[in-house]
Amino acid sequence: MPADRLVRALEHATALDRPADAVAGAVGSWLGPGRVKDLLSGTWFGHAVHPALVAVPIGAWITASWLDAFGGPDSRPAARTAVGFGTLAAVPAVLTGGSDWAEVDGAERRVGFVHALANSAAVGLYAGSWQARRRGRHAVGVGLALAGAGLAGAGGWLGGHLTYAAGVGVDTTAFLSGPSEWTEVAAESDLGEDEPTAVQVGEVPLVLVRRGGVVHAVNDRCTHRGAPLHEGPVVGDCLECPWHGSRFGLAGGEVRRGPATRPQPVFEVAVDGGRVLVRRTDEQRALRLNPVASGGA
Ligand code: FES
Repeated sequence: MPADRLVRALEHATALDRPADAVAGAVGSWLGPGRVKDLLSGTWFGHAVHPALVAVPIGAWITASWLDAFGGPDSRPAARTAVGFGTLAAVPAVLTGGSDWAEVDGAERRVGFVHALANSAAVGLYAGSWQARRRGRHAVGVGLALAGAGLAGAGGWLGGHLTYAAGVGVDTTAFLSGPSEWTEVAAESDLGEDEPTAVQVGEVPLVLVRRGGVVHAVNDRCTHRGAPLHEGPVVGDCLECPWHGSRFGLAGGEVRRGPATRPQPVFEVAVDGGRVLVRRTDEQRALRLNPVASGGA
């Protein structure tokens, strides 16, 4: 497909790195871990919030296009309102998207940069369309809206590529399973207090932490972007991700601080005669079976 060829070219377009890295760096330094970051990431929502928010301006703009095409002169005020509402609704979509984008690298960052440019230009065109309609220049407003729709469509396609092809925003443990039977993974004597220790069960990486005499086992791959959690510190009763600072409860894997939105899978742990054994606690999911099965599913 031509679109696939285009996106492959974008993925390799290293000329984009300089401006993209500069913008991502500025966003990253402005948005450190904390409440604002969690709000924009969707930590409170349980999923990335950006994909949900983009539906609002798109819906409003499609409504405007429908009215432009079929509504006749009486519907012009409603079309203008829809264009204006969609433009305002694009602001939170842009902010949340920018926050998510600042955390990706390489090919995803390049494609995301063009995705953001296209959508930002679309927002500008729709803002111009609203202005033109307000001044009575209906035909100009319709033309600008059509151009905006084209750019928003192209930007949306790239956004779809980022999610469905590149896996941005997807729980990175979605296809990882773990043993359903008790499986020995370490000797208890090898575990220092509050010292994350990486072990492997089949193809599933785990991090073990002994704290207050209790051993916890958590999937070692951060659900956010896949960082090795054993390289992060233990902070209170949480494990902190070394890449973007998300914190997960050691006992339950729940997200205590974003930008992660999905909890960290945890495993049942038993200590028997100095041997540490684990087994998975969650129900098996279809996509965790073949061909991506691992760890004795
Ligand atoms: S990889 Fe981003 S918070 Fe862990």
